[in-house]
Amino acid sequence: MCGITGYIGYRDAYPIIINGLQRLEYRGYDSAGLVLYDGNQINLAKTKGKVSDLIERVTNKEGHLGIGHTRWATHGVPNDINSHPHTSQSGNLVIVHNGIIENYDTIKKELINRGYIFHSDTDTEVLINLIEEVQKNNNVKLGKAVQIALNEVVGAYAIAVFDRRNPDEIVVARLGSPIAIGVGKDKKEFFIASDASPFIEYTKDAIYLDDEEMAIIRVGKDVKIRKIKDDSLVDADIQELQMNLEQIEKGGYEHFMLKEIYEQPRAIKDTYRGRLLRDEGIIKMAGVEDNMKKFLNADRIIIVACGTSWHAGLVAEYIFEEFSRIPVEVEYASEFRYRNPIITEKDVVIAISQSGETADTLAAIKLAKEKGAFVFGVCNVVGSSIARESHAGAYTHAGPEIGVASTKAFTTQITVLSLIALRLARAKGTMSSSDYRLHLQELELIPGKVEQALKVNDHVKEIAKEYLLSTNCLYLGRGYNFPVALEGALKLKEISYIHAEGYPAAEMKHGPIALIDDRMPVIVIAINRGHYEKTVSNIQEIKSRSGKIIAVVTEGDTTVKGIADHIIEIPDTEEAFSPLLTTIPLQLLSYHIAVMRNCNVDQPRNLAKSVTVE
Ligand code: F6R
Repeated sequence: MCGITGYIGYRDAYPIIINGLQRLEYRGYDSAGLVLYDGNQINLAKTKGKVSDLIERVTNKEGHLGIGHTRWATHGVPNDINSHPHTSQSGNLVIVHNGIIENYDTIKKELINRGYIFHSDTDTEVLINLIEEVQKNNNVKLGKAVQIALNEVVGAYAIAVFDRRNPDEIVVARLGSPIAIGVGKDKKEFFIASDASPFIEYTKDAIYLDDEEMAIIRVGKDVKIRKIKDDSLVDADIQELQMNLEQIEKGGYEHFMLKEIYEQPRAIKDTYRGRLLRDEGIIKMAGVEDNMKKFLNADRIIIVACGTSWHAGLVAEYIFEEFSRIPVEVEYASEFRYRNPIITEKDVVIAISQSGETADTLAAIKLAKEKGAFVFGVCNVVGSSIARESHAGAYTHAGPEIGVASTKAFTTQITVLSLIALRLARAKGTMSSSDYRLHLQELELIPGKVEQALKVNDHVKEIAKEYLLSTNCLYLGRGYNFPVALEGALKLKEISYIHAEGYPAAEMKHGPIALIDDRMPVIVIAINRGHYEKTVSNIQEIKSRSGKIIAVVTEGDTTVKGIADHIIEIPDTEEAFSPLLTTIPLQLLSYHIAVMRNCNVDQPRNLAKSVTVE
């Protein structure tokens, strides 16, 4: 939540900051702002709205030092005043902040008693004035003042601060929210950002701060990293970025979401490449091999996640229980962490997170670790907090996901989790050799089948035209496809603002059937595997109450074709892998409905890509 970017060096800072903010807008887009130091004074511009609104506000674009911010509001409504950057009372210090200072109210009262006047409702203005007060009282440089102040605050933050009286350095710090530092050639310039996307065209060398670390960045000097608590020095670990520019651009698609939907064949293939060795009949995943005993001795697997990742966890529950016969519980991370869960050393906790930064998931795994469980992370963002906090893990190789609505993260998470379940099934002997081989073979065919499934796009677009004015929608699925129904409903509500519910198909008659009338579209996943006949009966029940049925069926289906108002055909596959295909038309349906309703598909209202607040 919130994106931070900054630059110090020899280039004009303005275009670097503006482009960077545009790339980070997925993190929040309530308001935006930047400050530049032009050699004499600081020039600050900020506004409610998007980075495009900010561009209109900037009058002075001079300067080789600057910081910028795109906001997802926590304290204080989105308006010009609450937008970042915030300056201290003297006007000397400037800050951008991602996170929440929980004890800001107490600090604010103390500062007011000492004569500080506040203009905004934000916790960030409190923090910058606290830093100023510390600096005054202790007569210390900015870095030291930041450190002392951060030891007084409770909460989460990623910050970038500079002092206009000393404009050759920027101080950054993190606790709970990410900060990456791009190191330019010969240290002649440095870049700061919430993720590396704002600076990949300038440098491939990046340092990721760990929690409770701060860094002082000065042109021509090594980045000095210290522990905020005890001031000890930390070696700067410069990593080579694997990301490239093409991955974070729209590449001719109208929206990132559509691009990412179409990237799924490639993303799934990248995710199993080097891991699924069909000819040798093996699955090779270092994180699993090195910890095989933990998995094999586990009493149960607990999956913790939020949102779409939680839905992937639900699919995994079916897969793990079926393939490897290990009991699985799937928990909303936010509920798990607050309910004193029973966790033992014989539990394996799998955390699923695209961003690797979701605050509740991170807190859930910290709790699980404290209680002695083995924690395995399934993340997309390399080097993210959850990836680092886990004992071991496996990355999904989806590439950057920029559209706020998760698509390729979901299918690649299911891919990784399927690989793990198959590997464990092999090790435990819970699946016959022939079945195991069949599943390896089938998983390898999935990218081609997703490609095939994507061909329904034009047909789905036609269907979307009929339902774009709907106010409610029901999604039904059974077994492996019940979580897909939940995911389909989530996709529709988050980007088109149509109310949608996902249900296990058989549960419909225990309540939701009361909602069905001729204005209620019901999207039913009715593939020919699993409990097909039962689902057909459910479709009949809807039809006899005049509901409108959009059915996702296996190609060649004739039964449902005769009943449903619309059918969308997808290729046949093993039931366990069917979510990788059934989800495709549901993603496309939400996408087209949202586009036709003129919604901002990539940046839906009130949402942000990584939820780093609880
Ligand atoms: C929905 C969506 C969210 C995320 C959730 C978890 O399309 O994107 O529901 O899935 O916020 O995020 P991660 O996976 O980053 O932990």
